Amino acid sequence: MNSDADRNIILYGRKVTKTFGALRAVWQVDFKVKKNEIFGIIGPNGAGKTTLLSMINGTLKVTDGAIYYKDRNITNLKTHKIAELGISRTFQIVKPFPGMTLLENVSIGAMFGKDRIVNVKEAQDKTRSILSRLNLIEKEEVPVENLNVSERKRLELARALAMDPELILLDEVMAGSSSTDLEMIMRLIEELNKEGKTILLIEHVMKAIMSISHRIMVLHHGEKIAEDKPENISKNEKVISAYLGSRYAKMSWKNA
Ligand SMILES: Nc1ncnc2c1ncn2[C@@H]1O[C@H](COP(=O)(O)OP(=O)(O)OP(=O)(O)O)[C@@H](O)[C@H]1O
Ligand SMILES: [Mg+2]
Repeated sequence: MNSDADRNIILYGRKVTKTFGALRAVWQVDFKVKKNEIFGIIGPNGAGKTTLLSMINGTLKVTDGAIYYKDRNITNLKTHKIAELGISRTFQIVKPFPGMTLLENVSIGAMFGKDRIVNVKEAQDKTRSILSRLNLIEKEEVPVENLNVSERKRLELARALAMDPELILLDEVMAGSSSTDLEMIMRLIEELNKEGKTILLIEHVMKAIMSISHRIMVLHHGEKIAEDKPENISKNEKVISAYLGSRYAKMSWKNA
């Protein structure tokens, strides 16, 4: 991590590995995410995408390898420590606090982030501004149990944002969204990126991830099989046969 090119790296993984018994869920994956980049991760179901994200934010311990954030070794640090350093994530399987409203759920995020807010009113004000950005403000008093899939996904995103991260890890936040919501989330990710945030994004919605990512890494059976600009990824033979399929490859990557 000493060359000039590497000074621009905010997140660096070296031979990151996770095994579950004999299963190589993530196998010796090297990656470098640049500051202020939108870095996409794609791959078939079970490829290891969520597992990799979980190792980055400390939800899962690595079996082998190392992860650095801003040149600091964060491998196997506790999740709350990693959040304090400025990394927050969303969960593919949304886990809101039951029995609480949307506003209460997101306010908790605001109180445990990088810049801890101890005042409840202040946390709620901050939460409301985030909920407005996500078109969720009218739902602030709704118990989380009554939110639909897309709203729950946006709740996850709101919770992550409430922690004031510099690096945001998004695990399929667009799944289950209408095309209007999808557009809104895509624009929001681009805006956050323009505001200086680095985004690591897992998504099966190809139209979205291909159009907003600067670079894409492809995982297959736990291994990295490609890493490139989206337009090259969509033409990559290995990626086509492992994931995209020939039908997709014949289409323009921008219009897919
Ligand atoms: N806690 C666990 N214990 C055992 N195996 C696990 C565990 N978590 C994940 N796996 C396995 O590791 C592999 C990678 O799973 P992972 O959830 O990371 O895939 P993914 O790429 O996120 O898939 P999807 O696109 O379906 O979300 C899968 O075979 C999965 O069954
Ligand atoms: Mg997953």
